[in-house]
Amino acid sequence: MRMRSKYAIILFFVAALVIIEKENNIISRVSDKLILKFPQGEFAGLNNTISARALTENDSLLTGTSSSLLNCASSQAGPKREDSKEPTGRKHLILMATTRTGSSFVGEFFNQNSNIFYLFEPLWHVERTVTFEPKGANAVATSIVYRDVVQRLMLCDMYALENFLLPLPIQHVTAFLFRRGSSKSLCEKPVCTPPPRTKYPWHERFPCRLHRCGLLNMTLAMHACLQKQHVAMKTVRLRQLDFLRPLMEDFRINLKVIQLVRDPRAVLASRMVAFPSKYEAWKKWANQGVVPDDEEVGKLRGNCENLRTSAQLGLSQPAWLKDRFMLMRYEDVALEPMKKAYEMYRFAGIPITPEVKMWIYTNTQTSQGSDNLYSTRKNSSEQFEKWRLALPFKIAQVVQTVCGPAMKLFGYKLAKDAETLANRSASLLEDRGSLGIA
Ligand SMILES: *[C@@H]1O[C@H](CO)[C@@H](O)[C@H](O)[C@H]1NC(C)=O
Ligand SMILES: *[C@@H]1O[C@H](CO)[C@@H](O)[C@H](O)[C@H]1NC(C)=O
Ligand SMILES: *[C@@H]1O[C@H](CO)[C@@H](O)[C@H](O)[C@H]1NC(C)=O
Ligand SMILES: *[C@@H]1O[C@H](CO)[C@@H](O)[C@H](O)[C@H]1NC(C)=O
Ligand SMILES: *[C@@H]1O[C@H](CO)[C@@H](O)[C@H](O)[C@H]1NC(C)=O
Repeated sequence: MRMRSKYAIILFFVAALVIIEKENNIISRVSDKLILKFPQGEFAGLNNTISARALTENDSLLTGTSSSLLNCASSQAGPKREDSKEPTGRKHLILMATTRTGSSFVGEFFNQNSNIFYLFEPLWHVERTVTFEPKGANAVATSIVYRDVVQRLMLCDMYALENFLLPLPIQHVTAFLFRRGSSKSLCEKPVCTPPPRTKYPWHERFPCRLHRCGLLNMTLAMHACLQKQHVAMKTVRLRQLDFLRPLMEDFRINLKVIQLVRDPRAVLASRMVAFPSKYEAWKKWANQGVVPDDEEVGKLRGNCENLRTSAQLGLSQPAWLKDRFMLMRYEDVALEPMKKAYEMYRFAGIPITPEVKMWIYTNTQTSQGSDNLYSTRKNSSEQFEKWRLALPFKIAQVVQTVCGPAMKLFGYKLAKDAETLANRSASLLEDRGSLGIA
């Protein structure tokens, strides 16, 4: 079993590279740069520099996964696109975001729906396992690996993740899936099996919050996924919409994508708090006046431009994306969560359920005070602008400069001075209607 899995990993990368070659003709640049990174001694004996030339075009990306279960999945997915009205009604949704944009919160809108099989950041494992050397075809190659895994997951092929799990699953049972507890579907029956009577064998505590569940059996998860009416996932690891084109054109997948964005000034402020070591340069600037170098600023610009090009493509509505893309601002969700939930569900073509409404109601509770002005505004709206008091204006200015084009597209107003930035009566949100934003 061990050996099989090792080969599966090697084959996987080899196959991934073949796909790259086919699609981008960049293999010669990539092949020498692909490295597998394993944190554990398990792979010490493995020569993990893979030569891409060793394989044939017919190698399948995911070895040993073409289970008969998945053939059901495709028949469930309904007829070809051209018929457009899917009678079986199975829908697939990707919530595409970046870190600190409120995507966990918005993801809950779908996690809470018991008709949806919801996965929380499944690509976390892929990111941890695959790394490309600097100056390689980094972004492109990773995106392709991500995309192929997403495609399989959308079809309920949970085995697609197994090559990336550590420790390697044994008989499709895994000891650790990142944030399993954030996915209701993986924490309820039948996927939640009784825990072992002996002590939980891994360091982790029981990952599911409400139930004590045993180790995760991926076969059971796959069954559960196929049983559910719809499939959804949230990820901060997909960057560019155009990489998803093959999924959009896959007639088995009725895919819709919601790109969630947030004011880049708020995102930076939040990341400085959440990832202090990664944003050291910015913090130093805020606290000690040490100006961040061009590289830091360049990274920020790159992030914003990535978001902008993706959103721009979506908003331009090319034929392959028609009615499949929605741009959503976190701020709008925070201000009117219920209204926005309805809009997202309508877009996804999935009926909203009472449990979803209840969750939103409970978790965005309106204040019961007498202040009528705020009665339609939810409590979440009080939180989302706190950064305006915390972020030094000089940093906000840099963000406004390098992220200007993205901010313009998303409808975030520039603050002309420190007073405006800190004045919460002065809205930084452009009216949505004029922007093509939901
Ligand atoms: C691993 O592969 C590289 C590249 O093919 C080769 O140079 C190296 O000698 C190999 N190492 C071992 C331990 O086989
Ligand atoms: C790949 O599969 C096709 C069809 O089965 C076959 O004709 C072709 O020779 C195979 N290519 C390789 C390199 O094995
Ligand atoms: C995982 O679930 C499948 C499907 O119910 C079952 O056949 C299999 O025995 C389970 N695996 C283990 C190791 O319990
Ligand atoms: C908003 O929610 C927080 C936490 O639930 C609570 O402490 C606070 O009082 C609420 N604010 C209002 C105005 O209801
Ligand atoms: C804050 O903004 C509001 C609305 O633009 C404005 O009327 C008010 O004068 C501003 N307050 C301060 C202190 O600048």
